[in-house]
Amino acid sequence: MLARATTHALVGLEAWPVEVEAHLQRGVPAFSIVGLPDKACQEAKERVRSGITSAELEWPLRRLTVNLAPAGLRKEGSGFDLPIALAVLAASHQIPAERLAQHAALGELALDGRVRPVPGALVAAEAARRAGLERLICPPESAPEAALAGIEPIPVEHLAQAGAYLRGTFKPPRVAPPEARNGSGGPDLADVRGQERARRALELAAAGRHNLLLAGPPGTGKTMLARRLPGILPELTIEQALEVTRIHSVAGLLPAGRPLVDRPPFRAPHHTASTAAIVGGGAGPRPGEATLAHRGVLFLDELAEFYRPALEALRQPLEDGSIAIARVQGHAVFPARFVLVGTMNLCPCGGRGDPAAQCSCSPQRLAAYRDKLSRALLDRFDLVVQVPRARSTELAGSPGEASAVVRGRVESAAVRLRDPPDLSKPGAELLARAVDSLPLSGRGRARVARVAETIAALAGEASVGAEHVAEALSYRSPTELGSWT
Ligand SMILES: Nc1ncnc2c1ncn2[C@@H]1O[C@H](COP(=O)(O)OP(=O)(O)OP(=O)(O)O)[C@@H](O)[C@H]1O
Ligand SMILES: [Mg+2]
Ligand SMILES: [Zn+2]
Repeated sequence: MLARATTHALVGLEAWPVEVEAHLQRGVPAFSIVGLPDKACQEAKERVRSGITSAELEWPLRRLTVNLAPAGLRKEGSGFDLPIALAVLAASHQIPAERLAQHAALGELALDGRVRPVPGALVAAEAARRAGLERLICPPESAPEAALAGIEPIPVEHLAQAGAYLRGTFKPPRVAPPEARNGSGGPDLADVRGQERARRALELAAAGRHNLLLAGPPGTGKTMLARRLPGILPELTIEQALEVTRIHSVAGLLPAGRPLVDRPPFRAPHHTASTAAIVGGGAGPRPGEATLAHRGVLFLDELAEFYRPALEALRQPLEDGSIAIARVQGHAVFPARFVLVGTMNLCPCGGRGDPAAQCSCSPQRLAAYRDKLSRALLDRFDLVVQVPRARSTELAGSPGEASAVVRGRVESAAVRLRDPPDLSKPGAELLARAVDSLPLSGRGRARVARVAETIAALAGEASVGAEHVAEALSYRSPTELGSWT
């Protein structure tokens, strides 16, 4: 007797259909799985056998072969347990095979038959729907995510429940897709006192999705400011929210009880992160921090402490908004459209730029520190701002403007942006002069024009004037950091 179940394998950020065929034949009792890597295969066998007996179902005492097709597709993870167990139950006539064939299934089995969540339920559900299936049998934790795909999730806590459902003796609860909750949460800009220029740059970064570098002595509020950027970014559209949720689902990062990522993500990897951790790669391949930050913020605190190769690897996504990762067959392309925010001190000891301190760094140490950031990387920061020590009167003054107010301005400016920017004649002339005097690269020129446009949009003006270009030029690294580079 032969029975089939449908499931999916994750390849990068996509789910590929996998047919599970269970074949029972006369002969000495044996169990083999073909089409899976060896180690995972052994483990799946143990869990499926133990799960079926714990569910008080019968383990067929015959020759059992399970085939996962197509064989050429790399299959990773434990999500095949539940579909394998269901195919075995159907092949041994314990559940109706025709009914199983109308479902996709996904989930890991515990040895006692409980069904556990696995990453990627959203993309699996979307793939199942594309294949014309209308229901996905899955662990309860994955059900809201699956519902986002417009498929009916069948949440089951235990293999026995899945069996009862397919026999028609158990009715699982209906699961509605989660709704966007909006609202930002997170720390508020009202906490930041003074630092008007840095706050302005933060608002520009949010409105035009420009990359921002905050540089200055220790304890001046750089980290504090950077952490408040997501709170002033516009809401994600529903398509964007789904796009981000898909990525976080595959990475197994969806927080419990919050299956829809409806706010721009904020990723802050540690400075010891490897290149693969930052841009993705390895088996699978797996998405890196740059992809997890898609449509949100990638925050590199203490930028100069990161490994230089990891920083350099960000140059391509910063330009393209995506990352190409080589793999055995061709390459995978991961989305990576994020706002990069970096912070750093002006020297290793932190004394530079601080009137109350003295720099004790040797010239060699200083040179090595500056070498960490290539000109090419610095060139990609649209907004570079020195964050000086605030005066005591500023710190004792009234709280700053709240994030909600700033976000309101950001949202109305963002809808006014045009591509390419519409430069006025005086604006264009000033920019042309800056190309020679600064000097400005071709990329730099285009980036200044975009920042100037954001400034004009925030001011509610349709045309980009010389004053907007002038402000944009003031944030370029050679202007702001002077002899630093
Ligand atoms: N402008 C400010 N308004 C309110 N509080 C501030 C401000 N600047 C600093 N602080 C206080 O100082 C603490 C340290 O700030 P933060 O960690 O942002 O400094 P930093 O500039 O990132 O320093 P480092 O270069 O050492 O990382 C904050 O948690 C906050 O309590
Ligand atoms: Mg800091
Ligand atoms: Zn120093």
